[in-house]
Amino acid sequence: MKILILPDPAAAVARCAQIIAQTLTETPQAVLGLATGGTMEPVYADLVRRAEAGEVSLERMTSFNLDEYVGLPPEHPQSYHTYMAERLFGPLGLDPARTHLPRGDAEDPATEAARYDAAIGQAGGIDLQLLGIGGNGHIGFNEPSSSLASPTRVKTLTSATREANARFFGPDETVPRFAITMGIATILRSRRAVLLATGASKASAVAAMVEGPLSARCPASALQLHPSATVVLDTEAAAELELRQYYETVHPKGQEVMLG
Ligand code: GLP
Repeated sequence: MKILILPDPAAAVARCAQIIAQTLTETPQAVLGLATGGTMEPVYADLVRRAEAGEVSLERMTSFNLDEYVGLPPEHPQSYHTYMAERLFGPLGLDPARTHLPRGDAEDPATEAARYDAAIGQAGGIDLQLLGIGGNGHIGFNEPSSSLASPTRVKTLTSATREANARFFGPDETVPRFAITMGIATILRSRRAVLLATGASKASAVAAMVEGPLSARCPASALQLHPSATVVLDTEAAAELELRQYYETVHPKGQEVMLG
């Protein structure tokens, strides 16, 4: 794992956006795996700014989002379809045929999950998978106890996750109990993964992911098996890493370093 520790959340967001932009500059038709959540909002704002400035184009990429709530149709204001449409796909006028999310309103969510997993394979697999992390160590909606070999499937959300995500829903709305999520095996098949975490609320999950045992207790720890995983952190999210000094020596201020 490559651990990049940036001085503040804005610098971590910019570093993450830069990695995505660089991938698209090198491979304009890349297949991106995309994430949602509060952490990703400034990343998408940064990408929109870069695209509008002509620094990068997302027009030829294909995307597959990690997850969607079961029961929410795409047009639901709290669906991840709407999240992506408002923050990235709409502002950039991207071709909807190239942007994919699981259908939360599918008649049979299990069949939809299997279809989605197969569609990722048919697209050639994911070149760059963007990830956030839940306070309980989840990636996508792979909650603790998820099989580290899991395919895309339906998962029951923990009460901790439903409470954390209640802030996106109105006071009279219930956070869905289930989601379709890319599995951990699906995520591990990506050719490169970049996980962004900012803020003190992620510090213990980040430490468990990077330095804890490989365990379904912290699903993000499965990234220890990924051959090319980069973890981009601000100092607060990095606060509980025991080997922090080492990571900062290897990558001062989160920069790449050359041998020699
Ligand atoms: C959500 C999403 C994840 C996201 C995580 C953290 O529930 N399913 O993909 O990484 O929880 O979200 P946030 O960035 O809002 O803390």
